[in-house]
Amino acid sequence: MTDRLDPIVERLRAAQSIVVFTGAGISAESGIPTFREAQTGLWARFSPEQLASPGAFREDPQRVWDWYAWRRQLCLEAEPNAGHQAVSALAVRTQAFTLITQNVDGLHQRAGNTDALELHGSIHGLRCFECERPGGNWPEPPGQVVTCECGGLMRPTIVWFGESLPVDVLQRAEAAASQAEVFISVGTSSQVYPAAELPFVAKRNGAYVIEVNPHETPLSRTADVCLQGAAGEWLPALVRALG
Ligand code: OAD
Repeated sequence: MTDRLDPIVERLRAAQSIVVFTGAGISAESGIPTFREAQTGLWARFSPEQLASPGAFREDPQRVWDWYAWRRQLCLEAEPNAGHQAVSALAVRTQAFTLITQNVDGLHQRAGNTDALELHGSIHGLRCFECERPGGNWPEPPGQVVTCECGGLMRPTIVWFGESLPVDVLQRAEAAASQAEVFISVGTSSQVYPAAELPFVAKRNGAYVIEVNPHETPLSRTADVCLQGAAGEWLPALVRALG
């Protein structure tokens, strides 16, 4: 394992700007289900159309609310794992470090990366479905869907299917990807756009691209190196090798 890491460690040591880009796989070892894995992925068990779209919320707001309340509880009960901790350790030792995540679980923040760019929002916040006013935190217990001052219903601050990513967050992520000397893609199936474009943006702009994933993805052929396996093993190994 260590020999394999030598050239990667050299790149990391020399790099002044590093981007880590994460997906659901990095939180899998914390017990949070991913989306697209057969059997265990959320989209193998639930329909995105019925739970994660504006149409679904219009049709049955309580069903959507209850599903996110359940998922949020899973996130609150989970703990950041060795992969999240390693990302945080890498951030501290890098001059220009950007963490871009598709995850909404808040585990990176709890591991210390409070400035993570959340491309798909956060499960912990609420905003009005009608007037978009931010609505603070979820009530405890979540109960009935909360209503906004305007009479609209509150929804989680998550980007749903058919919605645009927050423009400022996406722009900052694209800028970081295009300036990165090393770009590390961790635990994402590289299927959901525009997020999935980011490692390719980095590669086109000269970054050394590392993929960490137990399985091959559409990024694997383009990446300079694929570390096949779990984030909770490879990322701490990289940080240890950096010394
Ligand atoms: P996916 O479920 O599509 O992919 C998870 C990836 O993690 C797969 O490629 C797995 O092989 C990999 N994986 C599993 N365990 C791992 C481990 N221990 N270490 C490293 N990798 C591991 O999740 P995402 O790519 O994040 O959107 O999905 C992207 C978006 O699709 C999500 O943000 C979500 C979903 O619909 C929204 O919520 C808007």
